Formats: sequence, structure tokens, C-alpha cells
Amino acid sequence: MRDYFVLPKFGIKLVASRTGQITLREAEKSDLRELNEIVNETGVNRFLIKKAPVSMKSTRDNLRKVRREGIPWIVCVHEGGVIGAMDFRQETGRKSHVCGFGMAFSKRVHGRGLAEATANACFAWLKKNGIEKIVAETDEDNLRARGFYKKLGFSERCILKKNVKRGKRYVGTVIIEKFL
Ligand SMILES: CC(C)(COP(=O)(O)OP(=O)(O)OC[C@H]1O[C@@H](n2cnc3c(N)ncnc32)[C@H](O)[C@@H]1OP(=O)(O)O)[C@@H](O)C(=O)NCCC(=O)NCCS
Repeated sequence: MRDYFVLPKFGIKLVASRTGQITLREAEKSDLRELNEIVNETGVNRFLIKKAPVSMKSTRDNLRKVRREGIPWIVCVHEGGVIGAMDFRQETGRKSHVCGFGMAFSKRVHGRGLAEATANACFAWLKKNGIEKIVAETDEDNLRARGFYKKLGFSERCILKKNVKRGKRYVGTVIIEKFL
């Protein structure tokens, strides 16, 4: 038996953003093509752990894994298409009030506030369901993401030096956290 609480199903949420309405829901098989295209976009993949080209098989396997492990993988739908996604990894035992996350949005919608509206709605859902703190990592040279997280109220706690290798170049990893 588990000695910690688990997050419930996310369901479907309609959220207003400054660029219009978005729909947030769990990822489905029919989203995989669009999700795969997003993580392969040059300006997006640069800041992800998995190097492009990310295969469709790998994206499909990811859906199987999140379903098997009960990991919320939330897609953002805008004007009929998937434009980004967030995934949440709740810790266990004495750390089960803490949740890690990752996110990636298509370059074609960057700067329109859609990622911000998605993140805020997801964080409100986590808070309502017992999560007290969220943590993430971002590359030291990912100035867009660092500005984005700062606006969302995250604090940068430390930088792990030479933590990522892009070709021959090393980049640091910034550890960020926010209390809900
Ligand atoms: C990080 C990411 C999700 C942010 O999405 P986005 O669409 O650029 O963000 P939004 O339009 O919602 O921006 C909201 C706020 O973030 C901040 N921001 C956005 N771009 C910024 C930049 N280049 N510099 C500083 N702050 C920035 C601003 O405060 C902005 O609010 P404003 O428009 O009112 O000024 C997106 O850029 C992305 O998916 N990048 C590629 C993958 C990635 O880096 N993932 C994160 C890895 S941890």
C-alpha cells in the first residue's frame, strides 16, 4: 500500500489566455504526431534532454510510459491544434508534496501567453490536489525560459555547472522552485 497521496485524473479544462481560449487535457494517441513535431523543432529541441531527431516510436513509448505510471501529461490545444505540453512527476513518500515538471511549446506560439496560461492552470490544479512545491530545471543559457519562470514566481536556487553537453559545448543547469 502507498504511504502517500496520488494526483487524481486531470480531466478537461477550458482556460482563458490573453490570446484566446485554450483547452487542457491528458495527451491522447491522436496528439502524438503534433507532440513529436514540437519536440523536434530546432528552437525547442535545443533546450530538451532528448536530442532531435526524436522518433515517433519514442513519443509513442512515452505515452505508454506515462499511462502505465500515472504521470499527468497535459496537452494544450489552441485553435484546433496541439501547441504545447507539460508533464508532472510527483515525488513519493516524505516528498510527495513536491512535484517536478517539464514543458515545451511550439515556436510558432512563443510569446503569446499561452504557455503562461497553461502553467498557471496546471499549478492551480496541483495546489488544489495537495502539491505544495513545484521544482524544475532549465538550461543556464535558456534566457526565455528563465524569464518565463521568473514571471511565474519561481526562484532560482543554484546552478549545476557543465551539466548538459551540446556538441562540444557545456551548459549549466539552473534549479528552480516555487511554493504554491
Ligand atoms: C519556456 C516556454 C514554455 C515559454 O513559453 P512562451 O510562449 O515563450 O511564454 P509566454 O508567451 O507564455 O510568456 C510569458 C512570460 O514569460 C516571459 N518571457 C517570455 N519570453 C521571454 C524572454 N525571451 N525573455 C524574458 N522573459 C520572457 C515574459 O515575462 C512573458 O510575459 P509577457 O509576454 O507579459 O512579457 C517556451 O519558450 C518553450 O517551450 N521553449 C522551448 C522548450 C523549453 O525551453 N522548455 C523549458 C525547459 S525547462
